[in-house]
Amino acid sequence: MKTHNIAVYAGDGIGIEVTAEVARVLATLEDVFDDVRYEWTEFDWGHRHWAKTGKVVPDDYLATVREFDAIFLGAVGDPAHVPDHITLVPLIEMRQRFDQYVCLRPARLLPGVKSPLADKGEGDIDMMIVRENSEGEYVNNGGIFKPGEPGECAMQNGLHTRFGIERIIRYAFELAGKRRKHLTLATKSNAQKFSMVLWDKIFAEVAEEYPAITADKFHVDALAMNFVRCPENYDVVVGSNLFGDILSDLGGAIVGSLGVTPSSNINPERRFPSLFEPVHGSAPDIADQGIANPVAAILSAAMMIEFLGETEAAQLVEDSVVASLRDGKVRTPDLGGSSSTTDVTADILQRITG
Ligand code: NAI
Ligand code: MG
Repeated sequence: MKTHNIAVYAGDGIGIEVTAEVARVLATLEDVFDDVRYEWTEFDWGHRHWAKTGKVVPDDYLATVREFDAIFLGAVGDPAHVPDHITLVPLIEMRQRFDQYVCLRPARLLPGVKSPLADKGEGDIDMMIVRENSEGEYVNNGGIFKPGEPGECAMQNGLHTRFGIERIIRYAFELAGKRRKHLTLATKSNAQKFSMVLWDKIFAEVAEEYPAITADKFHVDALAMNFVRCPENYDVVVGSNLFGDILSDLGGAIVGSLGVTPSSNINPERRFPSLFEPVHGSAPDIADQGIANPVAAILSAAMMIEFLGETEAAQLVEDSVVASLRDGKVRTPDLGGSSSTTDVTADILQRITG
């Protein structure tokens, strides 16, 4: 019997609702693959912990989750009660402290989901955005001079290390090798003549080691345009923290709904647990109504068990979600249906058990 220990941070709003659906999926997988167990340990962090203690997580939460094989996060954010800059701290802190330097966001147009782009259907968009998640433009380095005065000025520094750039580019080449063997670098070396020139240089160096992979680069502004004009031209796209952040949101937008978009924050060396979460937030506007789409969370769980080595189970979950969407009979309001969260999961579970 193999056991995977998962720390569960359901969080707030629909994060709690969709995480409950993931628990049902994993329980069903334990029946189908009876030699694997998912030990599911829930922490009531977020607004519930805040109500009791005035903090969203206990002081030692990092040491607590450190011991797990993976972290599943529903969504955080209860803007009516807790300021967003406090709720989101643990999420950002875990990414940094656990060196989750790869952020993976698939942008794949699933059957039965309408793209805002005209004439795009299933299979036309299938990209994986690989975002550098540990340094770059998001290092906390800079300052404000003369605050509030007429001469007020801000300086914000980026930090791009050879070590950080090389490891993410190498990860992206490896990934491209398992997909359609095409890797694109998002750059801006015509204007950012230090940081992006270094990215270009290291990209070219690493590309030499992967002759079977088509490697190209675009300035990020042109690439954003192409995501809208010809997304079918791209397979794996790698970029710095800022570029990857923006491109992955754009990637999410062209494949339809936040309700179906998964993501992961990975430490590939497995020195620390990796974190898996739907892209969406806690959606206070639809919380407690039982209508949140559980698909993004369920696909995030599929990414998690794939990372834990359960490739067959992960594929079964993904195939079942795709079949359910293609069938289109049971769907939540965000996809134009009238089914509930639990109905959607039930439809997926039926397909998992065959
Ligand atoms: P949001 O992603 O929660 O919601 C945006 C819109 O998409 C809403 O209209 C919502 O109803 C809809 N939506 C999102 N997920 C859905 C699902 N699974 N099924 C159906 N509809 C869905 O973003 P918003 O409203 O900007 O933020 C709400 C809170 O979530 C804030 O406190 C924000 O800081 C937090 N947040 C947390 C994130 C995280 O935990 N990683 C990411 C984004 C926002
Ligand atoms: Mg973003």
